[in-house]
Amino acid sequence: MKTVTEVADLRQQIVEWKQTGKRIAVVPTMGNLHQGHLSLVTTAQALADKVVVSIFVNPLQFDEQADLSAYPRTLAADIEKLDSVNCDLVFTPTADVIYPNKMDEQTVITVPNMDDKLCGKFRPRHFDGVATVVAKLFNIIQADIAVFGEKDYQQLLLIKKVVNDLNFAIDVIGVPICREQSGLAMSSRNQYLTAQQREQAAALYQTLSSIKTSLQQGERDFAMLEQQAFSHLQQLGFKPDYIEIRHADNLARPNQVNQGNQGVSQLDSQDFLKIKLADPLVLIVLVAAQLGKARLIDNIICDLA
Ligand code: PAJ
Repeated sequence: MKTVTEVADLRQQIVEWKQTGKRIAVVPTMGNLHQGHLSLVTTAQALADKVVVSIFVNPLQFDEQADLSAYPRTLAADIEKLDSVNCDLVFTPTADVIYPNKMDEQTVITVPNMDDKLCGKFRPRHFDGVATVVAKLFNIIQADIAVFGEKDYQQLLLIKKVVNDLNFAIDVIGVPICREQSGLAMSSRNQYLTAQQREQAAALYQTLSSIKTSLQQGERDFAMLEQQAFSHLQQLGFKPDYIEIRHADNLARPNQVNQGNQGVSQLDSQDFLKIKLADPLVLIVLVAAQLGKARLIDNIICDLA
């Protein structure tokens, strides 16, 4: 496996691969890799001939300097893990390579209707930072396919929208969430939890699962389900930012409809994509909650068609 830090070296390898007709996939990460990241690499390998993983802790997407400084950096171990799964190339640029100019002189991509909902509401400008670095990585790497996790579901939809709106010639693929045996979604931030908090944290997935069961049983009082779950998490010691039921394809808020009616509801006027009235009802329950030092996010897809 090659490790490359400079854009010119990366480009040279990409050109060589393209000349021999290789299909290239990219998996953007911030490192501190776990099984969830490696499952993206496996998917990428199934879809492409060559897989590039980028490791870059992107300062532009952190709203708090302390969070950026504390973010776990484990490059040697990450490279070992990627080597063990036969990744072809790891791109580990420094901040100067990605942002050679002053940050306040950097062109930034702003995706509309993101900062008003879910994680965007609680992490101002975070998604601008994500959209910008991912666009830069796409332009640098010139891959045919990009693989992202469904764990960061709002991020996945954001990237799909950027690719669509700005005509990037890349296919964006989403991969299901990789979980611990307890149900806890794997995350680099889980290591901020104590052993006891790690056990407690499994309640997040249990809460999502119980909302899914209620929805499958025909419950359509979304506000009630959200409020009950929010209080339940508070009682368990979490500080929830949100727990919300949304349409899976566009994160629109489903309007409350009668019990048992599984038809499609109307959309928020604010929402950034329109769905067709004939679409089946696929909802997603998304949660973000602080537990001790970790801000945890998770979601569950509920196909009610
Ligand atoms: P990071 O948090 O390192 O995540 C990199 C990729 O791994 C993302 O696509 C994320 O959704 C996926 N991932 C993380 N945990 C997962 C799990 N348990 N199961 C499946 N996939 C999982 O997300 C970022 O980095 C950054 O915002 C980035 C896109 C790299 C831009 O800087």
